[in-house]
Order: sequence, then C-alpha cells, then structure tokens
Amino acid sequence: MQKLIVDGGQCLCGELSLQGSKNSALPIMAASLLAEGECVLTGCPKLTDIYSASRILNHTGCRCRFSGNTAVINSESADKSSIPEKMMSEMRSSIIFMGALLGRMGECTVSCPGGCELGPRPIDMHISALKKMGVEINDNYGRIVCRAKGKIHGARISLPFPSVGATENVILCAVKAEGETIINNAAREPEISDLCGFLRACGADISGDGESRIIIRGKTRLHGCEYGIMSDRIAGATYMCMTAATGGELILTNACVNAEESFISVLEQTGCSIYTGKDRIYLKCPRKLKALSERVRTMPHPGFPTDAQAILMAAILKSDGTSVFEENIFDCRYRHTDALIKMGADIQVLGKAAVVKGVSRLYGASVDATDLRGGAAMAVAALAAEGTTEIGSISHIDRGYERIEEAVTRLGGKMRRVSV
Ligand code: UD1
Repeated sequence: MQKLIVDGGQCLCGELSLQGSKNSALPIMAASLLAEGECVLTGCPKLTDIYSASRILNHTGCRCRFSGNTAVINSESADKSSIPEKMMSEMRSSIIFMGALLGRMGECTVSCPGGCELGPRPIDMHISALKKMGVEINDNYGRIVCRAKGKIHGARISLPFPSVGATENVILCAVKAEGETIINNAAREPEISDLCGFLRACGADISGDGESRIIIRGKTRLHGCEYGIMSDRIAGATYMCMTAATGGELILTNACVNAEESFISVLEQTGCSIYTGKDRIYLKCPRKLKALSERVRTMPHPGFPTDAQAILMAAILKSDGTSVFEENIFDCRYRHTDALIKMGADIQVLGKAAVVKGVSRLYGASVDATDLRGGAAMAVAALAAEGTTEIGSISHIDRGYERIEEAVTRLGGKMRRVSV
C-alpha cells in the first residue's frame, strides 16, 4: 500500500507540461477495436485506468503495448466479445467497451460497472439508445448480454441528458452501423470531439461533435491511424489550483486552452491573473485569494466541470470570504469535504450546495482519498496547510494523475510517495 506525504507551506512555481487526457484516451483505446490495422496513440497518460483498458483490449484478442506515452493497438485478431466482471469493475468507464464491441462484433457481454463512488451511475440512457439501433439487451443475473437483431442500424436518438458515456457509446456503435445516426442533446465535452477526431482519422464520417447534434454516417470499414491524445484539462485545473492555493506562479505547456475556458473564468474571480497562448497558460496568484463572487454551478460542458469542483473548493479554503458551490451532475460528490474539514476547513454541505467560509489556517492531517478528484483536492489542501499531511488510498489518485508527486516536486512543492 502506498501513501502520499505532503509537507505544506511551499509556494508552487515553475513550468509543467500537461499529461494526456485520461477521459479522451479511454474511449479512444476502446475505439481502436473498430479499426482494421494498427492504431498508434501518442500522448497516452501512464495511469492505472489506461492499463485496465489495455487489459480489456488484450482480453478481447487485441494486441496492445506501450512504449513510454505511446500505445500501439492492433485489433485484427480480436475475437472475444465478453468482458469478465472483474475487469469491468476495475474502472467505471469500462462500460464504453459496450459500444465498441457492438460496432466490431455485433454482440457483447459486459457487466454494470456499479459501485457508489460519486453516487449511483446508471446506464439506462446507454441501453435505450443502443436498443433503438437494433441491439437486443438482456440482464442475465448482473451480466448485460447485448446482441444485434440482424444488422445494427442508424437511428434518431434524443438523450434525456447530455451524458458523456452514453454519447460515446452511441458514436462507437454508430460509426460502423448501417445508415445514419443522429444524436440530439449530445454531450459537448472536448473529449467527445477528441474521440470523433480519432475516428475521423480512421475514416469515419462524423459531423457536429462539439455541438448538441452529432450526425454519424456508418462505414463498412475503418482503418488504423496515428493520433495524438488531447491534454488533460482536469489535470491542468488541478495544477492551477495547487498553484493558486499556495500563492504561486505557473506556466502550463501542452495545454488545451479552449477546453480550460470555463474553469479559468471562475478561477479569475479569486484574483489570479491568467494569460493564455496557443497551447500555454500562464497563471500568477496573489498571496491571499478572494472568495468566489458567484455561485459555482457544475454543469455539462461548456459549463463548469463537475470534475473540477473538489479541487477548486480545496484551493479557496483560505480565501477571503464565503464561496458557494452547487453540484448538479452527481449525487455524492462532496465526499472529500470531511477530510478538508479535518484539515481545518469551514465547509457546510446542504444537499446540492456546499458553503465554504475562508479560514486563516489549514493543518496537516492523516486523510484517505475518497475518489479520484476528491483525493486530488486533499493534495491541493495539503500543499496549503501547515505541517505534514498523509494521504492514504492513493490508488484513486493514480487513476488520473501521472506521478503526481513528481509534477508537484518539479514545481517546488514537497510531496513524496512512500510504501507502508
Ligand atoms: C464522464 C467522465 C467523468 C465526468 C462525467 C461528467 C469519463 C471516463 N468520465 O463520466 O469524469 O465526471 O463524464 O462530466 O469520461 N446518467 C444517467 N443515466 C445514464 C448515464 C448517465 O442517469 O445512462 C447520469 C449520471 O448518473 C450522472 C450524469 O448522468 O448523474 C452524468 O453522467 P455522464 O455524463 O454519463 O458521466 P460519465 O460518462 O459516467
């Protein structure tokens, strides 16, 4: 078992090149099942979730290997359409293999990723959309058995909510389906556009991604390609929050500037100066942050991302005044607040809202990561705290950050990994 040990109080200053996006790389790896030939993915982050996805690919018969940050996937010999329950449960986004396996083989057996990390994560929208495309889906004691009735065909699909995963599953299934699929109320997250960019590079016919209406015209054959994964906007927001919490100065390179816009405009309310270039973000932070002047409401993109809620909250714990958050995407996304309170924060959670009153000091404590972004929030607060914080259950953090302690150390923070 490993822990992160953080000695707080150092100002984070320096330059950091951002890792590739986990939430882009995972569906793109699944999508490589659809291509005949080799897919070379550069900028793939070295994360436990990525290795889980590669194990699933290898289980289906693909050959997936890594060389540094490059993944090489050859799916020619893929022939297994059933993913064991244990592999499905290793990461929640394994459900994305449903659309890819259906697109490739016309059938699949998966299980519900389940669990309660952020509250219930149902897949009803994925299922009803795929049914509309001619897929028969049955629940067999927790195993979801999907089989095409004849050929999978295009359909007009209106999602009740712009779910990222449901949009991705429909796209993956539709690129090789017969005819045209239209997704209304599609998710507009930049990672959806990255997935579509990859599929287009493989020969797919997709338009409208980045907007609410995506049109996909099915092709019988897709080919391999070389593709660069976009950079991770949430990792970017995390390092900006660490810098803001410690009154530092940061240059982020390899950044997806447009994808960070909604986060940046909120962070600016705290008095930070932020300048952006083509793929760079320069951040200069005051010694004491101002409280957020407007309620932070998490919303589907281009609204404020739910994945940045916990880390921004951790950054403003010592700010001047009161800030209010409203979590609208997931039911249980304030599980990090107990640990932050243990470190001296003043936070009151009232249903969807969390009210944060700035305190003058935070103190090191022994805490456990509750989930990926919640764990990252504890790391942000630890850097701004007096004394030493021990963060346990860091397997959550390792799902989304490539050697977080090395990035923090490079910026002058004191964070180390120990085995216990
Ligand atoms: C993705 C991201 C995750 C991010 C989330 C919202 C990946 C790997 N994960 O997760 O980091 O926090 O988008 O931006 O990309 N819902 C249903 N029924 C469904 C599907 C979703 O009720 O069939 C609900 C969910 O419970 C949740 C909301 O819709 O309340 C949003 O979920 P969704 O956009 O699907 O998130 P994920 O794709 O799971």
